[in-house]
Amino acid sequence: MDETTAANPDVDVMTIDGPSGSGKGTISRLVAARLGWHYLDSGALYRAVAVAAGWSSLDLSDVAALVRCTHATEVGFRDSAEGEPRVLVNGIDATDELRTETAGAAASAIAAIPEVRSALTERQRAFRQPPGLVADGRDMGTVIFPQAAHKVFLTASAEERAERRYKQLKDKGVSVTIGGLLQEIVARDARDANRAVAPLRPAPDAVVIDTTGLAVEVVVARVLELVSGPHR
Ligand code: C5P
Repeated sequence: MDETTAANPDVDVMTIDGPSGSGKGTISRLVAARLGWHYLDSGALYRAVAVAAGWSSLDLSDVAALVRCTHATEVGFRDSAEGEPRVLVNGIDATDELRTETAGAAASAIAAIPEVRSALTERQRAFRQPPGLVADGRDMGTVIFPQAAHKVFLTASAEERAERRYKQLKDKGVSVTIGGLLQEIVARDARDANRAVAPLRPAPDAVVIDTTGLAVEVVVARVLELVSGPHR
């Protein structure tokens, strides 16, 4: 189905794409909250499939089984009592497992399979509900919502992204090295950017914002300006 014939073609969409660690998740959530719009964490869908595949001990080279797993995996989003976003995979709260480097690497491998991507396409478009949607991912502006009125592509230097990830993991008590994280980030970027289907790249009509050295609030303000101009 073409996006123009998809559900709610008149509902406003803002796409926020970029590599991991570019600040997409934080910025997208804040922008969605500020606008009072829905939020789609598309990476969580790929991570959920990867985690469900792990639970079933599937081989990451078994494409047919992974496609079946994609169709069979139910993913639910809800906020905890403390307002923390939680992700349910087949009814089980898998938020912490989803955020691991292992799940990220498996998601990136699974995301290179065209049949897995197309199995998730309509599920992502179904998030387009009034009054609007902020969609965060790699191909939101290029493939899933090509007609979106507002498109952003966030970048940051690989070093800064490794450092941000390092701080996040350290706060959680996970022991990692910046060097190791940097290597993983560079490898994942290369895989995401060089895959044949929906490679990571800015849509031609996306506004590219380099978040290196910028405070979160500054980036949020710039993104919000795209929706309603600087005088909001
Ligand atoms: O954004 P996040 O790091 O959670 O995404 C995990 C992986 O899922 C990415 O490395 C990427 O390979 C894949 N992904 C994708 N398309 C999206 C979102 C995520 O291919 N729209």
